[in-house]
Amino acid sequence: MTTPSLLILPGDGIGPEVMTEVRKVIDWFGAKRGLAFDVSEDLVGGAAYDAHGTPLTDETMEKAQNVDAVLLGAVGGPKYDNLDFSVKPERGLLRLRKEMDLYSNLRPAQCFDALADFSSLKRDVVAGLDIMIIRELTSGIYFGEPRGIIEEGNERVGINTQRYTESEIDRVARSAFEMARRRSNKVCSMEKANVMESGVLWREVVQRVHDEDYPDVELTHMYADAGAMQLTRWPKQFDVIVTDNLFGDMLSDLAAMLTGSLGMLPSASLGAPMASGRPKALYEPVHGSAPDIAGQGKANPLACILSFAMALRYSFDQGAEADRLEAAVQAVLAKGLRTPDLLGEEGVEPVTTVEMGDAVVTALEESL
Ligand code: IPM
Ligand code: MG
Repeated sequence: MTTPSLLILPGDGIGPEVMTEVRKVIDWFGAKRGLAFDVSEDLVGGAAYDAHGTPLTDETMEKAQNVDAVLLGAVGGPKYDNLDFSVKPERGLLRLRKEMDLYSNLRPAQCFDALADFSSLKRDVVAGLDIMIIRELTSGIYFGEPRGIIEEGNERVGINTQRYTESEIDRVARSAFEMARRRSNKVCSMEKANVMESGVLWREVVQRVHDEDYPDVELTHMYADAGAMQLTRWPKQFDVIVTDNLFGDMLSDLAAMLTGSLGMLPSASLGAPMASGRPKALYEPVHGSAPDIAGQGKANPLACILSFAMALRYSFDQGAEADRLEAAVQAVLAKGLRTPDLLGEEGVEPVTTVEMGDAVVTALEESL
């Protein structure tokens, strides 16, 4: 068997700092668990723009297409705010998602026991929360044509198009039903079928896929605005939520905050299986590049470390090792280690990004 390959794209802001900690974890699995990876590293986002004038070079895109998994830190920053849309750091990420055809974006929102009091909601609303948002990632209003800013009479008009084909809805629905079968067998699909034709079609196709191939899974439909309300009212009613690109963007930020910190949540973006049988895959934390704290040792590396755990689970079929890594993260939190984003308890001194990463490696060591 050839050594699995991993392309690391640290990106901008806190991306490189948190990725340094992930590399320690990757090295540990190589040294102690016999899970060697062929790791290469490259630029994305503002870092790639600074070096090459583009947020993602064709060479990097090519590499991403040919590795077993991509691990990304974060992209963007105020320095790039005035760049033309076509070369903004975010375009690098969107190109990866689109060209790798990563249509199924898994965003777990899990409330870690030690952090249940960090949520802005009451403890009993969030304690034990474990939901999975599956966001369609390669279509919808993010990519629909026509788009642009045009002149109309004596003013300008901004245009974006919400657009979904049946096959795009079909495949992400399947991915949600498959996920539900691995969990609590429940899917809630969210759209705005009351005002959008794309929502009407979405609902119809999800229902058809269900009736034909997944009748054993419990399926409900909800308007996305009501879904947002229900997510804050009683989030534990949900198991898997499947929704489109834009609603998924917003609902996953909302769900993330239920858990207390955006600094804790990983994500996986999966596409069709490659020749190896592994899905095309990109793993990244849900948080952004946090330019305000970059370079200060304040970033929480746990979301990115947990993204690598998702890679172990979904790309490399190492569920037990993923469990081990997730347990190590639980253990450092239980010990009381907190990066500044997790402060709130009295008398707790924050640890640095590096100290948090080292603590995870120590907890892994203790797991043997
Ligand atoms: C996300 C982000 C991205 C998105 C940005 C950075 C393009 O908000 O991954 O949720 O809108 O999809
Ligand atoms: Mg977002």
